[in-house]
Formats: sequence, C-alpha cells, structure tokens
Amino acid sequence: MPVHTSNTNWILETSNTAYAFGLNEAGLLTHRYWGARLPRLSDYPPAPNPQGWASFNNPAQLTPEEYTGNNDVKFVEPAIKVTFADGVRVTELQFAGYEVKDETLFMTLKDSFYPLTVTLVYHPLVEYDLIERYAILHNSGDQSIALERVFSAQWHLPYGDKYRLSHLAGRWFDEFHIIREPLTKGTKILESRRIHTSHHHNPYFAVDRGSADEEQGEVWFGALEWSGNWKIAAELTDFASTRINIGLNDWDFGWELKPNTDFTTPHAYAGYTANGFGAASRTMHDYIRSFLPHGNTLHKVLYNSWEATTFNVDVESQKRYAEIAKNLGIELFVMDDGWFQGRNLDNAGLGDWWPDAKKFPHGLQPLVEHVNKLGMDFGLWVEPEMVNPDSDLYRAHPDWVIHFPNRQRSEARKQLVLNMARADVQAYLIEHLDKLLTENNIMFIKWDMNRTVSEPGWPSYEGEQREIWVRYVEGLYHVWGTLRQRHPHVIWQSCSGGGGRADMGILHYADQIWTSDYTGGTSRLAIQEGFSQLFPANTMEAWVTDMESNLSVTFRMHVSMCGSLGIGANITHWNESEQAEAKKWIAVYKDVRSIIQLGDQYRLHSPQFGGGFSAVQYMSKDKSEGVVFAFRTHIPDPINPFAVQLRGLDPDALYTVEGFEGVRSGAAWMNIQNVFKLANFESTVRRIKKVALGE
Ligand code: GLA
Repeated sequence: MPVHTSNTNWILETSNTAYAFGLNEAGLLTHRYWGARLPRLSDYPPAPNPQGWASFNNPAQLTPEEYTGNNDVKFVEPAIKVTFADGVRVTELQFAGYEVKDETLFMTLKDSFYPLTVTLVYHPLVEYDLIERYAILHNSGDQSIALERVFSAQWHLPYGDKYRLSHLAGRWFDEFHIIREPLTKGTKILESRRIHTSHHHNPYFAVDRGSADEEQGEVWFGALEWSGNWKIAAELTDFASTRINIGLNDWDFGWELKPNTDFTTPHAYAGYTANGFGAASRTMHDYIRSFLPHGNTLHKVLYNSWEATTFNVDVESQKRYAEIAKNLGIELFVMDDGWFQGRNLDNAGLGDWWPDAKKFPHGLQPLVEHVNKLGMDFGLWVEPEMVNPDSDLYRAHPDWVIHFPNRQRSEARKQLVLNMARADVQAYLIEHLDKLLTENNIMFIKWDMNRTVSEPGWPSYEGEQREIWVRYVEGLYHVWGTLRQRHPHVIWQSCSGGGGRADMGILHYADQIWTSDYTGGTSRLAIQEGFSQLFPANTMEAWVTDMESNLSVTFRMHVSMCGSLGIGANITHWNESEQAEAKKWIAVYKDVRSIIQLGDQYRLHSPQFGGGFSAVQYMSKDKSEGVVFAFRTHIPDPINPFAVQLRGLDPDALYTVEGFEGVRSGAAWMNIQNVFKLANFESTVRRIKKVALGE
C-alpha cells in the first residue's frame, strides 16, 4: 500500500522513495522526510517541533509546513495568499481531516474562521518513484474570496544549506541551457510572465548537495504541469531550511473564488533518486511517456520545407519537395506557414484558416492526395492563437484580441494575440480547424505560437480581470482537447517559435515539442542535452536543416537522430551524394528509432560541460540493444583520445559494440574506456547488441 495513515502521521511510499509528514505538537501539518524508502514505517522521523528562543527567531518561521499560510510571525514564502470579503489578508489553515481514495491522499485544511477549505492532494506514482501534488480551494461561504497566490506544492529538502539548484535557461533560438548554481540565502525566482511556458526558463528543477553527477548523488527534482505563467521560488531560509515552492505565477494573478466554487491548481510532480541527474531524467521520461496522447507510437520521419521556402508554398513547388522527400525515405510531409488566406509574408492572414485562393485554388486536396499517393502522411502548420490586423478575422472582430482600452495594442511579428479565454474565440477556432481536419486527410498538426502577450486586458469581462492568465491556458487546452477528441488519429506538435511551450501540461495535448528554431548541429547538441533533463527523446523533434551547413550531412543527421528525426533543409539543393548520405541515415534511424524514442537515455559526456566532445547512449528497455552517438566539435589538435564508459547494459550478458573489437560482458563495456577517434566536426553512431545471456 503506497499511502500509510494514522491520525497524526502520513507516509507515501513509492517503489524506492518515501515522503512523510505529520501533525506536530502545535497542530501544524509539517514535513518529516523525503528520500530513500526505509525498511519500517517507524524508521521515518517524527514531525519536527522547532523551538524559537527570541521574538525574531520564533517557531513559526522554523516550521517546515506542507502548505504555509501567511499567518503568525513567519516570513517564509507562503503557499497561499488571499483576501477575504471583509478585507482580512491573513490565511490561517488548520488540519481538519483526511481521506484516502484510489491510493490518493486528500488532506483537508480549513481556515480557522473564514469559509475557505484547502484540500492538499498527494498521489504517489509508485512505479515511477514520483509524488504528484496539487491543491483544491473551496469557498463554502456566501461572499467571494480574492485569491492572490495559490501554489501547487511546497517541496522541503532535508535540513541543510549547501544545496545546488539546476534549472534550464535560455532565450529564443538558444533554449534549455543547463544552469547549476549554489542556492544561497534568500529566494531564487524562476518564472514566466509571458502567458506561455517561455524560452527563458522552464518549470523544472533539480536540487542536489553540490556533487551529484549523471550517475551518482542524491537529487530531488520536479516539474509543473502547466503551459502558462508559472513560478518556482527556491528558498533557503536563514535557519538552514530549503524548500522549492512551485505553481502558478502570482505576478499579476487574481481569481475571484465565488461562493460554492472550487479552484484547482495545476499539478506538480517531484521525485528523489540517489543515482544522479541521469536517473532523475529517466524517471521523468518514463512518466511523461506514460501519458502522451499516442503513448508508444513511433514518430515518423518528417520533411518540412519552412527553412527552404518560408512563405512561398503552392501546389506545384510543394509537390516537388514531396517527391524528393519520398525518395529520401521520408514518411510524413508537412506544409508549414504560408498556405492560408492572404499569407504571403508575416504581415497578413493569421486568423483566416482556409487555403489561400491563389496558391491553392482547389483547396489542399490536390496536394494532400499527391503526398498520400507517394505513400506519405500529410501534415500542416497552424498558429491558432494569433491574428494579423490585416485579416478578415480581425476586421470582423477587433475586440477578440487581448488588449486594454486607451492603450496601444503592441504588435510583435506584426500580430496580436487572440483572447483564448473567450468562448467565442474558442468556438471560432474549433469550427475552422475542425473543418480543415475533416475535409482533408491531415495526420499531423504543428501548432505554433509566435509571440508573447502585452497589455493583458479583457475589457468585456466583468469578473476579476487578472483571471485572464489562467483562463487563457484553460481555453487553449479546451480548443486543443476538443480537436484531439474529434480527430484522435492526428499527431500534434507544440511549437512556440521553437521551444517556448515545452512543459508537462502541453504534452497531454501534443505528442511532440519543436525543441528550438535553432537547428544548426553544434549548438543544438547543448540545447538537446538541456531538453533531455526533463523530456524524453520521442517528444524532441529535431530537424536537419541548412543551418551550419559547413558541417557534413552525416554530422547533422546524427545530431537530429538523437530525437524524433525530421528534415527541414532545402533538399532541392542537395547534391546526389548529400541525398545518398541522408537516405542512408534515415534508413538507419528507422532501424534504431524504437530504442531512441522509447528506450533509456544515458548522457555519457556533456556537450555543455564537457568541452568539444559529447556522447549520448540509448538502450532498449530490455537491455538487448542500444545505440551510442559521439560528436567532436572544435578541439585543437593534438587531441586526447575521447573515451566513454557505456551505461545501462546487463552486466552479466554479452554484447558487441559496432566499431569496437570483441564480445564483452556488459560489466566490461561499462567499466572499460571505449575510445572514439574523431576529427573535428566528425561524429559517429555505434550499435550495441546483446549476443548472449552470458555464462
Ligand atoms: C516559427 C516556427 C518555425 C516556423 C515559423 C513559421 O518561427 O518555430 O518553425 O514554423 O514560425 O512562421
């Protein structure tokens, strides 16, 4: 049983970890333990009873509460901040009972005076070694309560002040760089205020004691399942208490909790491992793969002409690309931006989601049929949340965009953002996208979002204006979810000018994420390494394009083969030998893609921290086969030989590794140094095969 309860203590156990909390002598719900699972329930430490000894160092701020209100004399980050109808701004939560349903623990806290109930939900995901947490607020009174902050979870680390925080940071064209930095006293804030997850930070964290690496060391890690404004407040108090607060961003957040209504926070997930960042990532990969809309379906190799043609698409030219693509072994042909009404540049058309009458006089059908006849699936690009002022949609409904009266409507990429919180906007998008999907044999949609929000107003809404941040995302999920339901066979990709919308929330709707608009081979290695901290390889769409075309096709193919492979180059310009190279690697990829997309990933040598050499390995779940990629970028000669030890093999079984002599035990391959001889900007891929069970 994963949930153990008594009247004062609660323990959640997963296969290898445990999380415990209980009521302390002051009656507060306090954190007790988070780490390796222990043999006996009585092994877990009791709820702490911190003793303050001065008015400034008082017990209230020393207590690691599971969900801290802003009552009493405590200055730690509260999990919740509300204003009651009479203006009182303090929330005082008291334990009021618990219930276990479907192996999920519901802890009820009630305000000591006001009609606010907070239910903390804890769900141990036993086989994934993760704890899922969220909170449900209920107003049982007859007046509204104004919510100002409602985090999903506060995660407490064991006492100590020597932690290191790892997170992902970047910007458009350069996302997902791994940052590892000591947590010092105070609060480190990571957040998005942009209405989407953002290219800049990601709602993911990993905390260790400063010495964990890919293979060993304790790591506490987690993420938020949300595609809008989010916040992580990593706090080290002056009393050696470290906690990660995670949830909706309270910046410009507001919600009117009306009488008899609930508010449910996004879900947060966190886990513990003693086996380093690699194990933490594999845990998240397994869990994310467990809920992807198309589960374990292998992704097809796609072609997309965006970087070759930009907006210049029409039936004849797309047919030409499709024919060459087919010859390379492509399985899915995707038409990107430029196909819809009035879209010749980025200044017009967004919002008018029907085929451009000049470019596609007979609709999309002739092209779709041609692609299908060639034996490929057809896919299409859309950017539903956006509108160009130069569009029929905007001319008819200028009030549908997010804006304030008396303020300019700032454009970015010459477009404005539709207010996805509005039911009429949702209905319009569902109607037009549904029509496209119904009338055409479309198997794949790339859902893009190419700007962030400014002037976040919703003039026609009579409720709390700041609800727009949450209601927008709910509207997005509603539109996407409805289309998914009506067209369950379609594979969807989440793109936001590259990796601006990469999060666990969107992966309930999208099967893949467009990792970055930067597609050049070398920098991409680090972007992909960062992405893989949280996301599995089957969600990482990676194209070979003409960026960094000084690199060989082989090098670029190897980089993109580490995820879900696509080609985005101008293949009409590829000479015969380049086409032959690409064809060869596409065939190899098809052969090994199940290992890459669905297997276990081991980052053997980091492109970001490891200099000009990097290597990554994927092993099938049954450890019978694997594949290792190695890359050398820019290292002056003379070089040291680059060597890696393989990972994830069955130590007792016998394996061969392509390019290396001999049949060796898994233990041997994992202990000896396997030397790669590569020149600058050379790469290699080696297959690992189990040949016998071993003696
Ligand atoms: C974004 C995407 C690109 C492409 C363009 C089209 O930048 O990330 O891949 O689809 O939009 O306008």
